[in-house]
Amino acid sequence: KETVVSGIRSTGKLHLGNYYGALRNFVKMQEEYNCFFFIADLHSLTTHPTPGDLGRTVREVVVEYLAAGIDPEKSTIYIQSDVPEVAELYLYMNMNAYLGELERATAFKDKVRANPDNVNAGLLTYPVLMACDILLHHGTKVPVGKDQEQHLEMTRTFGNRFNRLYQVDYFKEAFAFTYSDKLVKIPGLDGNGKMGKSNGEASCVYLSDAPDVIRKKVMRAVSDSGPTEINQPKPEAIQNLFDLMKVVSKPDTLSHFEELYNTCTIRYGDFKKQLAEDMVLATDPVRSRIQEISNDQEYVQRVVKMGAEKASESARKTIREIRDIIGIKRLY
Ligand code: TYM
Repeated sequence: KETVVSGIRSTGKLHLGNYYGALRNFVKMQEEYNCFFFIADLHSLTTHPTPGDLGRTVREVVVEYLAAGIDPEKSTIYIQSDVPEVAELYLYMNMNAYLGELERATAFKDKVRANPDNVNAGLLTYPVLMACDILLHHGTKVPVGKDQEQHLEMTRTFGNRFNRLYQVDYFKEAFAFTYSDKLVKIPGLDGNGKMGKSNGEASCVYLSDAPDVIRKKVMRAVSDSGPTEINQPKPEAIQNLFDLMKVVSKPDTLSHFEELYNTCTIRYGDFKKQLAEDMVLATDPVRSRIQEISNDQEYVQRVVKMGAEKASESARKTIREIRDIIGIKRLY
């Protein structure tokens, strides 16, 4: 069985981007592969969450993993910081990750632009830690959204470089994975870019949002006065709403509104109402389980404890082998 590794940062509640880009594939992949799904709490430290927030958000992500249908009997669910071996591997891998390539990473450049006051070294080496998450368990398939593709390319670079440096065939190549024909990018509701917290709360629909909250957010989404000519290309904000409809609605619904758009008879109020209802339906099974699981303190603890044990076992083996390859030996 191939090994699957993926994680989501603990920066708050999960949104539709996380769900369709990553989480939904996690649930499907656990039936076929040997899966490690973790909560990337160490990665979330780049933005300096307060200690109280960190603890709460880590737990929230665990609960949402379970609510989405990740089965702890099939998959290993763990918290990144529960397996500190990854930090040791990160130190080793940093020795052959080069400043130039790290500075060129798109996600790094975006973060520098968005937040020039917090360009810390952890942000620069974020892709190294991410590579180590994958390499630690010898993952080959990594379910992620489109925005992570470059990080996977870097993971292959670091692994191959290590193999060459020590003339071993140790690390395997990992590739971004999705069941659809291309990696997913879920747009936000604000008219431009992808759904993400850094693009503002209004851009995000959370899995835990109540139906009325979803309806309000969708009705407020940017649209316009609509096409005036038949078969007109869609402006970005409208295209985004159609893209969202493509993931949450039935194909018939989508083609119905495409038709209305192309014949200039679309009414955006109706269109958004339908989109909101389909989002409510799509998120309903997860939403209804979040509260229930969250209340079961003991179950959540048991899951992450079991996950930490399984992930540690795999991690300790890798670290033993890596130390041996590098030549780190005890003299006593
Ligand atoms: P994070 O928390 O930023 O995102 C978690 C996952 O959600 C996907 N995603 C999206 N997909 C489509 N459209 C969107 N609008 C959207 N927004 C988020 C991301 O692509 C990602 O799959 N660096 C990772 C966390 C990580 C990781 C790893 C992943 C750390 N180590 C090892 C895989 C393997 C990240 O982007 O987190």
